[in-house]
Amino acid sequence: MNVLLTGGAGFIGSNLVRLLLLERSDWRVVVLDKLTYAGNAENLADLEGSPRYRFVRGDICNGELVAELCRREGIDAVMHLAAESHVDRSILAPSVFIDTNVRGTQVLLEVAREVGVKRFLHVSTDEVYGSLGATGVFTETTPLDPSSPYSASKASSDLLALAYARTFGLPVVVTRCSNNYGPYQFPEKLIPLMIANALRDRPLPVYGDGLNVRDWIHVEDHARGLLAAFERGEDGQVYNFGASSERTNLEIVKQVLRHLGKPESLVAYVKDRLGHDRRYAIDATKARTKLGWAPRHRFEDALGETVRWYVEHRPWWERIISGEYLRYYERQYGARS
Ligand code: NAD
Ligand code: TYD
Repeated sequence: MNVLLTGGAGFIGSNLVRLLLLERSDWRVVVLDKLTYAGNAENLADLEGSPRYRFVRGDICNGELVAELCRREGIDAVMHLAAESHVDRSILAPSVFIDTNVRGTQVLLEVAREVGVKRFLHVSTDEVYGSLGATGVFTETTPLDPSSPYSASKASSDLLALAYARTFGLPVVVTRCSNNYGPYQFPEKLIPLMIANALRDRPLPVYGDGLNVRDWIHVEDHARGLLAAFERGEDGQVYNFGASSERTNLEIVKQVLRHLGKPESLVAYVKDRLGHDRRYAIDATKARTKLGWAPRHRFEDALGETVRWYVEHRPWWERIISGEYLRYYERQYGARS
């Protein structure tokens, strides 16, 4: 199996590449990543030299590049993770979310159709369902009702992917997962941002009343779910992934402080996010029953391990915060291209 994996230098992508190379010894993985601010070639540096792995810097919106790459590498299947992924950035500057998440996905779908791939895994998010009240859960048939430019762009790309399945018979599978945590998450997202701030005794900015609820899943459990959906998912179907770990943001922030032995006085309530979804909760029954998937990590233990990872990998996130990581690619590859 020769897989084109888009967005492999990001958080979930880099964890997935590592899992695939470990667990599927006859697969070759070609990563296509633009290395935006969120892409970090350092996340995959340990894989350089593996004959079953190749990194290509490029934009998914560039159809010619993608088509040429698929032909040259003999690509059989696509795992599509590349995206602009941060809600707050989509509120500040939405256009790039439409370019990458909507147009980029359509470009990939078109190339996938031309080259005739065996599987197109479109990786999406539970945020496409919008916000829940105090009760209820998202199932695969919950109507799409996105709140932010990010989630609206993801919902658009989901619909395009499903339309390519129905109209052209492209073997698409769509996954929708809840909030991920774990190693290599960019420190603009809640958990790594709070860890990095607490470690530097900076205020922990909690939006609104801090009582918004997210349903947390460890990135490795998500990655295993993506592999299961890729291999065992049915064409044209959607699968939700979540680990039934609903927590308020405030609970998360307080747990991070406890793990680090820092005082709760670091919590700073700040102005709420515009259109802030109140609660997400996933019903993953379909993935459990149809794909035989189940999460392995328990939230409280895995959050502790995650905090330790950021403590032990301080240079990794400090290079990101300082912008130093952006120069890694030039140092590593500049002279070779
Ligand atoms: P991320 O922001 O960490 O990584 C995104 C990657 O995509 C980066 O490496 C970036 O360089 C690359 N990229 C962006 N634009 C590109 C373009 N035009 N061409 C090629 N590469 C480009 O994101 P993540 O958290 O790893 O999320 C990966 C996918 O999973 C996204 O599609 C996201 O919507 C989805 N998802 C994320 C979560 C979560 O909690 N993080 C949950 C559910 C679904
Ligand atoms: P985030 O990690 O951005 O994920 P998403 O918005 O995709 O769920 O945010 C998770 C929750 O944490 C969300 O309710 C917003 C909140 N949040 C804060 O309170 N402060 C912060 O600095 C950030 C980044 C997020």
